[in-house]
Amino acid sequence: MAGNIKVVVCKSSDEVAQKAAGMFIEQVRNKPTSVLGFATGSTPEKTYAEIAKLSKAEKVSFAKTISFNLDEYWGLDGDHDQSYRFFMNDKLFKSIDIRPWNAHVLNGKAKFPEVECRAYEDQILSVGGVDLWVLGIGNNGHIAFNEPGSPVDSRTRLVSLTQSTIDANSDGRFFKDPAEVPRCALSTGIGTIRDARRLVLLATGAKKADAIAKAVDGAFTPDVPASLLQDHPDCTFILDADAASKLKK
Ligand code: GLP
Repeated sequence: MAGNIKVVVCKSSDEVAQKAAGMFIEQVRNKPTSVLGFATGSTPEKTYAEIAKLSKAEKVSFAKTISFNLDEYWGLDGDHDQSYRFFMNDKLFKSIDIRPWNAHVLNGKAKFPEVECRAYEDQILSVGGVDLWVLGIGNNGHIAFNEPGSPVDSRTRLVSLTQSTIDANSDGRFFKDPAEVPRCALSTGIGTIRDARRLVLLATGAKKADAIAKAVDGAFTPDVPASLLQDHPDCTFILDADAASKLKK
């Protein structure tokens, strides 16, 4: 079943980035106080470069926006070059005028993870929820660090990573060796993500084709976390041709 997921297939990863960046620029132009959700991983990098470019060229200011990131490695502080805080500062926040105190990333060194996670949920609620959240997808269908089996109503919490995710994130793009990858992370839950008013999931490359096909055309099941977006009222998958190659025609 395809549920409500809208699928947009692009010719290239550049076009994916342009479309996704365009959604963010429009969102902020229409509502300068937007609450935005961001993701990490290599897929959204081009989108962030494009957002920075368009924000300058079209004079769209992020100064009144608030943002929340999906997740953070447990045990890494924000200065660690593999932390998601470091990634976001480097790939996006330093290139737009979002105020640092409004750009939220979970603290991987928090002494009490439950308190950190509860406070994160409260912060999202206190600003009225997320208007537009960008997601990537893992080869096993995970979103944020919600691995297969994560409940549809899960909230921000400390989670364990699967070996497949550890391997995918130590293939040379990020960590050099699987032994360096933290075994746990703080992650927003599927329920947290589903609460966003608008979702956009980006996927490029043939490695994502199976997960995308299962998420869009397969069963609504925690075995494929991204399939739990099928009944979201406003969710768009923006894909390149390779990532879309196993979708039902
Ligand atoms: C990590 C992140 C996810 C991301 C995934 C895929 O596991 N926690 O949010 O979607 O990687 O990343 P990439 O875009 O590098 O394939």
